[in-house]
Amino acid sequence: MEEKFVLKGNICYSHNADRLECMEQGYLVCEDGRSAGVYKELPQIYAGFPLMDYGDRMIVPGLTDLHIHAPQYPFRGLGMDLELLDWLNTRTFPEEARYSDREYAGKAYRIFADDIKRGGTTRACIFGTLHREATVKLMDLMEATGLKTMVGKVNMDRNCPDFLVEESAEASIKETRLWLEEIKGRYRNTRPILTPRFIPTCTDELMEKLKGIQEQYGLPVQSHLSENMGEIAWVKELCPWSECYGDVYDHFGLFGGDVKTIMAHCVWSGEEETERLRERGVYVAHCPQSNTNLSSGIAPVRRYLDQGLKVGLGTDVAGGSSASVFRAMADAIQVSKLRWRLQDESLKPLTFTEAFYLGTKGGGSFFGKVGSFEADYEFDALVLNDSGLRHPQPLSLQERLERFIYLADERHIEAKYVAGKKVF
Ligand code: GUN
Ligand code: FE
Repeated sequence: MEEKFVLKGNICYSHNADRLECMEQGYLVCEDGRSAGVYKELPQIYAGFPLMDYGDRMIVPGLTDLHIHAPQYPFRGLGMDLELLDWLNTRTFPEEARYSDREYAGKAYRIFADDIKRGGTTRACIFGTLHREATVKLMDLMEATGLKTMVGKVNMDRNCPDFLVEESAEASIKETRLWLEEIKGRYRNTRPILTPRFIPTCTDELMEKLKGIQEQYGLPVQSHLSENMGEIAWVKELCPWSECYGDVYDHFGLFGGDVKTIMAHCVWSGEEETERLRERGVYVAHCPQSNTNLSSGIAPVRRYLDQGLKVGLGTDVAGGSSASVFRAMADAIQVSKLRWRLQDESLKPLTFTEAFYLGTKGGGSFFGKVGSFEADYEFDALVLNDSGLRHPQPLSLQERLERFIYLADERHIEAKYVAGKKVF
């Protein structure tokens, strides 16, 4: 189906991390699911396209959540008094174990899919659990939302409680293959992504065999990296030969290069690991709220941007309590200020323009030409209604957008388009 139409309104989008374009009463053209550009005056060739006038509303690119755990959605906002490894054992693994129950999984994932559809996210990279059946259910539900997502069946075959573990590398691989065969050709919006949970829960044998699957199916990869000091020390114990934590993924061929890869967190990546991330083109999913809740630390995003790493934002629910990428933008700015003040004055805080870029084009680029309204970008758009956020003074368009990310929630999102299709 061809999507051809024009949206009129106050249009904001990023060219790059330092350049935000804001045009009042502009025209945004969609042709075949892609942007055909933003114009102050509508060119004659588009005059025949249907036009939707959104008046004084703002129109911005859809948001990308590079890292979220669907099965953890039920306990967001609960049990935030622990650090990562204790939190996993106490809170996370028991909840994820419930997804062996098909009925529970269906109920929980329905709530997740409904809520994500209603929010500002148009693209997301999502962890499921190790359960094949539940993960297929999650993919079916995400497909129906119309959002573009990548979803992973989690692999984990060691250092897990016996109620949530795959009994061997062999068994994990077998389930992963069955999963991939079951969903082959089944979706338009939803894609599989290989998801080894993190090194402490994946044997060398599993990682080796996952590489075989990655190559055979040409899959992208998502995992966790250098989130917490205890985790990093544990990886060093498990893999004493490694030069750094990231080196372990790299050793097994699951760390960028030809393999599209997202590593969540990278709070404590040192010089060597940072250089490896850059060289291999690995995406860093910065998850500021999770890193605060689990007392993990503050990732040096300023340094990553300066050194040319690919960076986007993740909500990391339920480490993060909010599934809003707008909230992640504000959190990214706020924690960068604390880091600057308390930890390293050489790394300046992130600006609003940079945070907006990270949540749109920065993370969106993992999906291709996504996260901007520049010509040929896929047409993901949100219509924002800030009229309920009253103010007595005049505000520029950029000020309205800045305020929106701090003050608004999904109730202020009036319409959403993904790849040219209206979701609501
Ligand atoms: N590392 C391994 N598993 C997880 C998880 O579920 N959440 C977070 N934040 N970190 C992890
Ligand atoms: Fe996570």
